[in-house]
Amino acid sequence: MKSIINDLAVYTSGNSQNQSIIFVHGFPYDHSMWDKQVEYLSQNYFCITYDIRGLGASVVGDGQYTMEKYAEDLFMIISELNLSKPILCGLSMGGYLSFRAVEINQNIFKSVIFCDTKAQSDTDEIKLIRANKIKQINEDGLDAFVEGFVPTCFSSGYKTNYSDNYQSIKTLCKTNKPIGVKGALIAMLSRVDSTPFLSKISIPTLHLCGEFDEMTPPNLMAEVASKITNSHFFVVPNSGHMSPIENPDFVNKAIYDFIKQL
Ligand code: MLT
Repeated sequence: MKSIINDLAVYTSGNSQNQSIIFVHGFPYDHSMWDKQVEYLSQNYFCITYDIRGLGASVVGDGQYTMEKYAEDLFMIISELNLSKPILCGLSMGGYLSFRAVEINQNIFKSVIFCDTKAQSDTDEIKLIRANKIKQINEDGLDAFVEGFVPTCFSSGYKTNYSDNYQSIKTLCKTNKPIGVKGALIAMLSRVDSTPFLSKISIPTLHLCGEFDEMTPPNLMAEVASKITNSHFFVVPNSGHMSPIENPDFVNKAIYDFIKQL
């Protein structure tokens, strides 16, 4: 079911009396990147996905976003849907948002699942890369940006073996509004570093990382997981940065096994 909360497109699936899981997508995708997880988990859990401000079917506005605003949006959805101790699950940019949300108030969550993400803020080098991406969108258009960026997110195996899905994902990314995509780049480059907070996370966490993820590689994620007391880390085989899409069977089982014992 689709609803609008705080100008954001929010999608729910499953019985609302069940334990809730709220999924936060990566950049520059939308809620549908979690379709395989929702299909699998909504039999036993109340699944919530949404489009981050500026992307998918959510409001674009003036494109002046911050990670703080994204976190505020997440808390608003939790409150409007009356979710009690939801499990939070974020990929990459959704993971940055999840780290920040947990830092603001970990007590409202039962646990957190971090997929292909990192706790560190952007280095100067990455900030400059993002500045160049904004320039590219301004000068060459969003399609050129998507054609350059999205291939770096997927493993070569996925691109070859699931070429139709991969092409559809790129087409979907191109339907975003340039102002929303540029706003997300600015929100990411201006986010704070969550590393100092890692040792204070006390709720259970699961960390999943594609074996071929070059953007947030397994060794980086393993290091982050090692700084959290109650953490479990798994490498997702045959996957790049988009593990929930590239190897949904492994990711679904890892999530299910983790949450059923909470
Ligand atoms: C994502 O998948 O959300 C992005 O690759 C994150 C990033 O660009 O840092």
